[in-house]
Order: sequence, then structure tokens, then C-alpha cells
Amino acid sequence: QSVAVLGAPFSRGQKRRGVEHGPKVIRDAGLIERLSGLDYSVHDFGDLNFHHLEKDEPYMDVKFPRNVGAANKMLSGAVSRAVGAGHTLVINLLYDAQIFKELFSFYSLCPDLCLIWVDAHADVNTPMTSPSGNLHGQPVAFMLKELQDKMPDIPGFSWMKPCLSSSDLVYIGLRDVDPGEHHILKNLGIQYFTMRDIDRLGIQRVMEVTFDHLLARKQRPIHLSFDIDAFDPSLAPATGTPVNGGLTYREGIYITEEIHNTGLLSAMDLVEVNPVLGATQEAVEATASLAVDVIASSLGQTREGAHPSIDEIP
Ligand code: ARG
Ligand code: MN
Ligand code: MN
Repeated sequence: QSVAVLGAPFSRGQKRRGVEHGPKVIRDAGLIERLSGLDYSVHDFGDLNFHHLEKDEPYMDVKFPRNVGAANKMLSGAVSRAVGAGHTLVINLLYDAQIFKELFSFYSLCPDLCLIWVDAHADVNTPMTSPSGNLHGQPVAFMLKELQDKMPDIPGFSWMKPCLSSSDLVYIGLRDVDPGEHHILKNLGIQYFTMRDIDRLGIQRVMEVTFDHLLARKQRPIHLSFDIDAFDPSLAPATGTPVNGGLTYREGIYITEEIHNTGLLSAMDLVEVNPVLGATQEAVEATASLAVDVIASSLGQTREGAHPSIDEIP
């Protein structure tokens, strides 16, 4: 199997700089070697080179709309090319703006795709409900078909088409949900598991219900979007919007192992590693190496180990 890796160094989905260096620290933590060790043929597409648009006035309260829209468009094109080149799995080491829909392209190539969103945040604010005006808190709203009558025409986003129904999405790890977002989750009947749900049910049951919800009717490709702030800040300190009470290492890795075991993972992104916000070099390295563990275990690294097939044993 082949994997395409693509870095998207970008930070205009929110106000703090630094997260554009996320792809570099994740590579420096040994991502490519780890994936090669898992027997994939890895095609590293390197990092995208986003052009900064100087003139980019806020639209309503939304910050940097044209920059975020253009960066997403570029990423979307790059993902299409990677898929077109025959890669069965695509990883994005995004930045912040959850470049929404890197995957737009991907969703049009794979109309069946479903989405597992692992995050402290629901990132489903619309420009009207957003308390911050930051686009990194809004990507899911751009994707959901059911929200389109609530979405204003933001400059930079006209190319984007909603590609996901609310029943194709499950959240895991939520613990900081804005009032407008809570209304959307309830109103659309979106399946979500907060940290409280994980406390109550255990992560094993959470994954079972997640797959029942998404796959019971038919097997379909999975896109995993993993925000590093889903983890507890003690494990992932170098990130822009840490929230106490997050996933343990074992819960996080259990999620990715289970997703790998479905055999259906087709694309993933890993977002919000911000080396500038780590208090020390160790904090940055711990966060980056956690990101590598998440990606490797999504792609089949196991805690039980593995042995070569018979014909490879000397
Ligand atoms: N809900 C808040 C907002 O809309 C925080 C979003 C945090 N998102 C993230 N990708 N870290 O601004
Ligand atoms: Mn988050
Ligand atoms: Mn997020």
C-alpha cells in the first residue's frame, strides 16, 4: 500500500502564529521513517507553499477569509493529485485552519466517505455563531450540507461545495463546545462523544458505537481528522487552544488502532501542533512525537508488535 504525506504550513485560521511550523516538527520527530518501517511505500509531497495575500479585510467578524479560502483550495488540489497518483492513503500534517476541506477534492472522488473528528472542539461554528471569528473553529460548518442555508458567502470560499451529511460524522473527545455549536449538534442530531461520555462508557464502547453509527449499513472509506488538542494538555502542551481533561495516551492510541483495524482508513489529517507555544524544547518534542505515534498507529503500528511473514524470516 502507498501513503502520500503532505504538509500544509498555514496559520491564518486563528490569530497566533507558529502553527505553520507544525509540519516541520512532526517530520523532525521521524514521521517518514516510522511509516516506511510499517511497510508502506511513502511518497512525501513535501510542504505546500502558500502565497500570503496582503489585502484580506475581515468579512463580518471572520479573519483572513481570502487567505484561508485560497490555502484550502490549494490543499484540495494537492490532495486530488495525490489520490490521482494512485495513493490509497493520504495524510495531511495540517496547520491550523483545518484546512477544511483539503478534503473537498477527496470527498468528490469518494462520495461515500465518512468522517471521525477527534478534537476537544467541535469546530462547527458558522460565521454567525463564532465567538472568535477564527476560521479554525468553523471547518465542519463549511462541509455540512444541512448548514448551507446558514452560511454567508465568504470571500475566498466560492469554490467550496458542502460534501458531508450530518449522519456521516462522529466526534470524539469534545469538552469545549460553544453555545451555537451545541445547538447545531443537537438540532442536526450529530453523533458525538464528549470526554464525559468516554468516562462513562469507556473508550472501547465509544469506538463500537462510532463504527455502528458510520458503518452498520455499509462499509465505507473513513477520513480521520485528529486535532492534537484532543489529548490532555499534559501530553500535548504545544498547541493553541489546550483544554484540561483530555484523552490519555492510551485512549488516543486505542482510537487510532481501532480505526486501523477497520481496514477502511483512506485519509487523515493531524492538526494544531504549534512549536512556538511549547514552554520548552521538551514540550515541543513530546507533542510532535505524540503526533507521530497517532499517525503511525492509525496506519497500523501496534502495541503488540508484529513479525515478518514466513517467507521473509531468514
Ligand atoms: N470554539 C472556539 C472558536 O470557535 C475554539 C475553536 C478551536 N479550534 C481549534 N481548531 N483549535 O474559536
Ligand atoms: Mn481543537
Ligand atoms: Mn480542531
